[in-house]
Amino acid sequence: MTRRGRGAHVQIDALSHRYRRGSGPVLADVSLEIAPGSRVALIGRSGCGKSTLLHLIAGLATPTLGAIHIDGRRVTGPDPSRVVMFQEPCLLPWLTAARNVGLGLSFLGRREGRKEKIAALLDLVGLSAFADRNAQDLSGGQQQRVALARALAVEPDLLMLDEPFSALDALTRAALQRDVRAIAERLGLTLILVTHDIAEAVALCDRAVVLAGEPGRIVADLTFDLPADRSPLDPRFAEARARLYAALAGDLAPPEAATEASPPTPSVRPVPVERSFSHA
Ligand SMILES: Nc1ncnc2c1ncn2[C@@H]1O[C@H](COP(=O)(O)OP(=O)(O)OP(=O)(O)O)[C@@H](O)[C@H]1O
Ligand SMILES: [Mg+2]
Repeated sequence: MTRRGRGAHVQIDALSHRYRRGSGPVLADVSLEIAPGSRVALIGRSGCGKSTLLHLIAGLATPTLGAIHIDGRRVTGPDPSRVVMFQEPCLLPWLTAARNVGLGLSFLGRREGRKEKIAALLDLVGLSAFADRNAQDLSGGQQQRVALARALAVEPDLLMLDEPFSALDALTRAALQRDVRAIAERLGLTLILVTHDIAEAVALCDRAVVLAGEPGRIVADLTFDLPADRSPLDPRFAEARARLYAALAGDLAPPEAATEASPPTPSVRPVPVERSFSHA
């Protein structure tokens, strides 16, 4: 896997979405620009529309209002240049790790250099020793690594992760977070992570976009200035986590407190928003 992509440029303009005619909106007036090669977390409480937004960016659904452009082209359906990894690795259990990775290449009908590509991808995700093992005989973390290698096989410009590590133990999760970040950086991919885990957002990303309310809106947009090889033990990591927690806690405050103008926290860019949603 030697190719270094440009990383997708994502532009979302005035997006609103409802699933069915007559049902309420789940996202309202979302505008967001994601720079090529950047790593951004979409974070917020359960039900605020994070997965919906990711599916819309992936082209798995069409927004009711507004538009999404990737590298200047309007998203109208799925495309192999952008891939999504879900919480479940969704491997074929009776196939080996190598053959599961090869599925991504088969999908594109790419045969040339196939064996070498699979080997390079398994190496990239640290699973060279497990190439011939059936997926069902791998641990949860190893299965997610195979799913990552399969996703990378199609050489995407945009990698989207929807809480992909939430079923894993803390140490396995931390190792995968570190590796995914390093791989995205090395390949030049744009990465969008959906999570409600504050530490995960800080570990993997350099920016966090906070969604809140029903319908979900962007209520804060934070950047983290941390080294690439960041450690949760670094005081700057703790500071970034605290800032993100404070931004998220804005949603947890009672409605009367939330409507009062509060002084902006340094380097948190609050997004003007009608705080008309309910605070359950
Ligand atoms: N296919 C669907 N049809 C109708 N409503 C849906 C559908 N998928 C999600 N919703 C609704 O849209 C809202 C946002 O859901 P979404 O899955 O995007 O939230 P989320 O932020 O990813 O939550 P979680 O953190 O629990 O995964 C919820 O109220 C949910 O019930
Ligand atoms: Mg979700």
